[in-house]
Amino acid sequence: MPVLVEPDAGWATALAVALPLGTQVVEDSDQLAKWLVDNDREYVVLIGPSTDLATALAVGAALRSTHPALGVVLLREQATADVFQAAMQVGVTAVASAHDQDSIAAAVDRSRQTWEAIRGPIGEQDGREGKVITVFSPKGGVGKTTVAVNLAVALSSGGAYRSCIVDLDLAFGDVAITLQVIPDHTISEAIEAEEHLDFSLLETLLTVHENCSILAAPTHPEAKDRVSPALVRRVLRILREQFDYVVVDTSPAFDDQVLHAFDETDDCILVATLDVPTVKNVKVAIETLDALNLVEGRRHLLLNRADDEVGLSPQVVEGLLKMKVTTALPSALAVANATNHGRPIVLSRPDHPVSKALVRLAQDLRTTNTDGSPIRSAHARPVEPAPKRRVFGRRRK
Ligand SMILES: Nc1ncnc2c1ncn2[C@@H]1O[C@H](COP(=O)(O)OP(=O)(O)O)[C@@H](O)[C@H]1O
Ligand SMILES: [Mg+2]
Repeated sequence: MPVLVEPDAGWATALAVALPLGTQVVEDSDQLAKWLVDNDREYVVLIGPSTDLATALAVGAALRSTHPALGVVLLREQATADVFQAAMQVGVTAVASAHDQDSIAAAVDRSRQTWEAIRGPIGEQDGREGKVITVFSPKGGVGKTTVAVNLAVALSSGGAYRSCIVDLDLAFGDVAITLQVIPDHTISEAIEAEEHLDFSLLETLLTVHENCSILAAPTHPEAKDRVSPALVRRVLRILREQFDYVVVDTSPAFDDQVLHAFDETDDCILVATLDVPTVKNVKVAIETLDALNLVEGRRHLLLNRADDEVGLSPQVVEGLLKMKVTTALPSALAVANATNHGRPIVLSRPDHPVSKALVRLAQDLRTTNTDGSPIRSAHARPVEPAPKRRVFGRRRK
């Protein structure tokens, strides 16, 4: 896959539309070097316009000697003759205007062809699967849906990654309403098709919202019991083949469907708040997961409303649960406000501390695998093509 070196989030998002889905974005040459150590089948590195020319040329020159099969494409706001000349001198494969999607796509394609000529076919899908992240708490009202929705949006990184959210709170799911979408279809329509369910059918049941697809919960609670645990696993297996990230929102109980979702889960976000009943129940949930050998070593403790002064401190919670708090979110009216306006806080208030903490969690989930190695996409084709020109246009507003 391509790797884009671009520290500016705006540029990264704008450039993502011209790049194959699943392109890895790194911020600087240090991150790039680390990434290439673990991922030796990348075929092109694009150096975005925010990196100054001297640094970009130095990175390009270094890559030519360390990774000769790898294409290096220099993206500039203005690709002048001087830039071309300097780039060619250090052996950069191509220079393209950062505003010219067609040239970027052509340069990426040429790099891919060169790489394949040297190292053999890359293949449409290199066998990796997307990551399934389940947000769970044995308590209702603690922020599971809020976290799940915001994580799914944050993981998509403005459309650079394919992200999907599955509402497994099958009786009272509120993912769709939290995003203020009215789904035309829900998971209940997959029930009849369970035996021969595939992505082409499942895709028709998804609702696309911003940069995230939603598989909504049934409209009526009674449909819950007809969604078999086997169907849940099948749905998650199919989705992880197509999406980089599949975020699962859950009911506040270990029902059969949720337990089977854990079988397909790579990372589990356990949500707790600073109240004794919740902490006690989260402890029981952890013990249950232990007893069933589920998501061991891949659990993250998220403390929501972590600044509430209620006589129970985050340290005490960590002691009781024998787990470190990975992410702490403060109580904030802005969160409830975002819910009520149907726009996740990571989109409506990206600078808010809650958004920053959730984006950081998304970054951690994105860059590390269960064994600490980076995880990448297994995307195949987009559910909805990105609105190409508009994204470029929007950035310059
Ligand atoms: N950190 C927070 N600060 C303020 N309100 C929050 C926070 N987290 C969640 N909420 C609000 O609490 C309510 C319940 O959250 P929700 O995510 O639906 O919980 P759950 O899915 O666990 O039942 C929602 O109205 C949400 O906006
Ligand atoms: Mg919920």
